[in-house]
Amino acid sequence: MSIREIFDTMEYGPANENRAEADQWLADNSQFELFINGNWQAPAAGEYFASVNPADGKTLAQVAQGGSDDVDTAVKAADSAIKDWVALGGHGRARFLYAIARQVQKHARLFSVLETIDNGKPIRESRDIDIPLVARHFYHHAGWAQVMDKELPNHQEIGVIGQIIPWNFPLLMLAWKIAPALAMGNTVVLKPAELTSLTALLFVQICQSVGLPKGVINLVTGDGKTGEAIVNHPGISKIAFTGSTDVGKIIRRQTAGSGKKLSLELGGKSPFIVFEDADMDSVIEGVVDAIWFNQGQVCCAGSRILVQESIADVFEEKLKARMNTLRVGQPLDKTIDMGAVIDPNQLRKVTDMVNAGVEQGGQVWQSDLSADSDANGCFYPPTLFTHMSPSDTLSQEEIFGPVVVSIRFRTPAEAISIANNSRYGLAASIWTENINLALDVAPKVKAGVIWVNSTNLFDAAAGFGGYKESGFGREGGKEGLYEYVKLKSDKLLSDKKPAVKKVKAAKAVSGLMPAIDRTAKLYIGGKQARPDSGYSLTVNAADGSVMGEVPHGSRKDIRKAVEAANKASGWAGATGHNRAQVLYFVAENLSARHGEFSQSIAKSTGKSLDDAAAEVDMSISRIYTYAAMADKYDGKVHQTPTRCVTIAMNEAIGVIGVVCPSESPLLGFVSTVMPAIAMGNAVIAVPSEDHPLVVTDFYQILDTSDVPGGVVNIVTGKGSELGKVMAEHYDVEAVWAFTDADTSTAIELASAENMKRTWVNYGKYRDWNDAGVAEGDEFLRHSTQVKNIWVPYGE
Ligand code: NAI
Repeated sequence: MSIREIFDTMEYGPANENRAEADQWLADNSQFELFINGNWQAPAAGEYFASVNPADGKTLAQVAQGGSDDVDTAVKAADSAIKDWVALGGHGRARFLYAIARQVQKHARLFSVLETIDNGKPIRESRDIDIPLVARHFYHHAGWAQVMDKELPNHQEIGVIGQIIPWNFPLLMLAWKIAPALAMGNTVVLKPAELTSLTALLFVQICQSVGLPKGVINLVTGDGKTGEAIVNHPGISKIAFTGSTDVGKIIRRQTAGSGKKLSLELGGKSPFIVFEDADMDSVIEGVVDAIWFNQGQVCCAGSRILVQESIADVFEEKLKARMNTLRVGQPLDKTIDMGAVIDPNQLRKVTDMVNAGVEQGGQVWQSDLSADSDANGCFYPPTLFTHMSPSDTLSQEEIFGPVVVSIRFRTPAEAISIANNSRYGLAASIWTENINLALDVAPKVKAGVIWVNSTNLFDAAAGFGGYKESGFGREGGKEGLYEYVKLKSDKLLSDKKPAVKKVKAAKAVSGLMPAIDRTAKLYIGGKQARPDSGYSLTVNAADGSVMGEVPHGSRKDIRKAVEAANKASGWAGATGHNRAQVLYFVAENLSARHGEFSQSIAKSTGKSLDDAAAEVDMSISRIYTYAAMADKYDGKVHQTPTRCVTIAMNEAIGVIGVVCPSESPLLGFVSTVMPAIAMGNAVIAVPSEDHPLVVTDFYQILDTSDVPGGVVNIVTGKGSELGKVMAEHYDVEAVWAFTDADTSTAIELASAENMKRTWVNYGKYRDWNDAGVAEGDEFLRHSTQVKNIWVPYGE
């Protein structure tokens, strides 16, 4: 084409990135083995699979299919490497992470080209976003390794970490997983997605080149079966997974009761909320970044546009016009906006979902595919559905492709309600020139990441992760480090229930209680309630005499308690100061009834009256601790390198079901319920199964201390039954249990259905008198989830 013709047509010329170095690297490594214990080794079963370029359908390389024997070898290697890796100290590990970051930068172009030909994403994105963020992640976590002793003084490594990652950001997800794990002294067995193993293989080569000790990183390539072998391996102490919600649920079930720590980063259907005063041109570019970045294969993609009705027509016209200028084509071409979808299966899935949307009456708009999109490649055009209703399938289900739905709303309240009408809660983007409105909406949207007038911003310094079925745990920021450490004090937990020091019958306090019939009730929504079942459980005193009866709480009672707890959502909105005042008042009122509670504990447990009195004293002190922390468990402002303040807020989780420990009935109840309510949650507590009467009277203290109805609900009964019921309930956001191993397993299993947060003791007991294990940040961390709000700031 002549220059004159170019000026006439203003067509883009080809601007292909050179792939010679990547091709040479592939030619040098035509078949990739597993990387275990610092060596390349063939898979035990001798099987390999092809890695294919989705933009032209051509095979790039053969990659080893790891099996369970290979996983076993890798876990053993990782286990043997831990001791020396920890002994190296934070500074030693920091030097390795720094060296890796430098190597990633030095080979940035090779990584980018490989990522693009393996995944189909535009070279502009792999070159300018994925690979720089990978380097940033290793630099940032080199820093955390260096300062671990000072910043996380009570913590230590967990052990061997199994990490399973998806194909949408292959090397970036590897970095998000490996950098914090190594920084905190763990070793890893990582499995890349079977569709995109290549950059992980190059990555371990650079780890070899910096002399990373053997066994610290082990790479076992393969498919879902390999992933399953990692998940089920007993030598693995934690699983970190990013991928589909369906597989996340399988992993939750498979690890239930195993004691393996788990973090899950799953799907999303993130709202992109456009208010009528938003800057329209910025919004349009925002939509492009929200849904056509990485062909829409982004877990936090802004795939649900919520647009205010008054501007919706103009917005849609402008968006369609912009869509017509988007260029879809060969990913190595530096002028294209969108590359290829990951593989034919995903292309079919997206196509089928769009077709179904059209059949259901959706109005669809698609821009043209550019001419240079290879017929053998998996290309799909940018797609917009308009006039969708919030309940349409396409408005609810994750499409994971370049397809966005647009839904109209009238008022901010309606926008929030539609935004939260989703089983997911990964991210949200809010567009308005009115900062008051943005900051009013941000805390009300249930999502782990909120971008104000921006979208898809990521950084190693800021936590990323979801609410609800988008999973749990955070990656990045200080909050992400807690996924890779455990408390040093965990070794104080015991396999045996702490024994109660019983006094001899002659000295027992059986005579201290008035001989009146004690028939406790449930306490739901601030009122005493009879159990739905109409059954009671007999409670014996320590000396074997009948002490009274408590209701045998059932599924229906839990249901009522959940309703009451959900109605108490105003508690989360109360200030920390106000919640502190209420907690101090609870302590004051407990103190006023010190003698009565001491006697009750003594009679029920057989403790001496002095020991029982000590339990009440300790309970009062513990309530003080959480009153104190109600306005002190601060968030952070993260130092992200964009022009944003990134506010990491500790938000209440919502409704938490707590199966309280049976031992130390009052102290166990207070130690678990008080941190939860101090942080703004509403609680359904199943009190001590052996000594419930100690706690049933606590309702009087709650009543007289201005605790709003529904904030604390007490349902007596069998912890094993009620814990499971709470874990199955969709409106309970978290369940804790401090009873036995079987209840722990049952709760974790039941929680998989809606990805509830769980905190269970696996039959490991803590001494509730020991503040070192029974009080503090661990409890507050489980009572909160971190929301990162990115607000543009400065020039
Ligand atoms: P996937 O969840 O099946 O795969 C993710 C990773 O898990 C891969 O490494 C895979 O080999 C592994 N895996 C699969 N089954 C496993 C099992 N039973 N145990 C352990 N590991 C297992 O995702 P897939 O099939 O690649 O994509 C399916 C859908 O998932 C997509 O259409 C998309 O909706 C969603 N997805 C979401 C991602 C996210 O970041 N939220 C990433 C990738 C996919």
